Amino acid sequence: MPNVLNNNSDQTDNLNVADGTAIPPLGSRGVIRVFAPATVANVVCGFDVLGFAVNEPGDEVEMRLTDTPGVVIKRITGDNGKLPLDAAKNTVSASVQHYLHHVNRLDVGVEIELHKKMPIGSGLGSSSASTVAGLFAINKLMGDLLTPKELVPFAMKGEELACGYGHADNVAPAILGGFVLVRSYEPLDVISLPTPAGMYAAIVYPEVDVPTKDARQMIRSKVFLKDAVTQWGNVAGLVSGLFMNDFDLIGRSMKDVLVEPTRSILIPGFEDMRTIAMENGAIGFGISGSGPSVFALAKDEETAKRITKAQQQLLHKLNINSKAYVSSVNAEGPRVM
Ligand code: HSE
Repeated sequence: MPNVLNNNSDQTDNLNVADGTAIPPLGSRGVIRVFAPATVANVVCGFDVLGFAVNEPGDEVEMRLTDTPGVVIKRITGDNGKLPLDAAKNTVSASVQHYLHHVNRLDVGVEIELHKKMPIGSGLGSSSASTVAGLFAINKLMGDLLTPKELVPFAMKGEELACGYGHADNVAPAILGGFVLVRSYEPLDVISLPTPAGMYAAIVYPEVDVPTKDARQMIRSKVFLKDAVTQWGNVAGLVSGLFMNDFDLIGRSMKDVLVEPTRSILIPGFEDMRTIAMENGAIGFGISGSGPSVFALAKDEETAKRITKAQQQLLHKLNINSKAYVSSVNAEGPRVM
């Protein structure tokens, strides 16, 4: 297990992962630090069913096994005191606890440090990046008892805790990397999609408050059939465009008639940022997750940088502070640092 630092190899090398009954690495003092990526959920037309991961920003979790059973949050940095240290309320510890329960290892002790490297409540899958980093870390320390796909339901539990609903369109791409389709929730059916070469994401976070819980509550629960027809045509078009490397088809499909018209009202300068993105060569533009971040897909890094720069200039004129991220699509999901 080369990824585990300060590890007593005598014990961990004997992990029997094949039948899920691993010999515990208790007392091994295994320590691991994991990065998990931010994500752009919905990808405009695919509310709750599409998402992709980016290489930056992302969160980091440092995890240590101890002899004292139970999961403890030792420290959180970069959250300005916003996140709970109470292990039952924190999405990272709660999902790790859920994982240990599932693999029947409640005898294991875990200490967690969470290092927030991205804004909270930004629409960039902040809680899922933390949760996924924690789950990836515990799974590594336990000898990869579960596959990445099998971790998705545990991360969804974290989303449920964070915003009241266990959607998978952030956590699945954070775990699997790339573009992901959540074809079905019951039963859960998560499918990795291809990423066209060279694609970049241009993300701008206007620093206004839009909690996911509130942004979900404002959406209509009933839709007109004609709008549903438009929407599923676009979802199918976007998925086809990813398979066909067809940027024009992807762009034509990045239209949302169900959710964006309501949510975009909460985002300052939204329509002007769309105009800026499209005039500067974006493939398509929309809200990242539940907002307030917006994103554009671009054919290359230079185009993406041009878009974020012009959008930030607009927000500056509106007296809104902002952060920008230009990133290629993350292909690997979480990684041991
Ligand atoms: N699909 C979710 C939503 C993503 O739009 O509410 C939240 O980031």
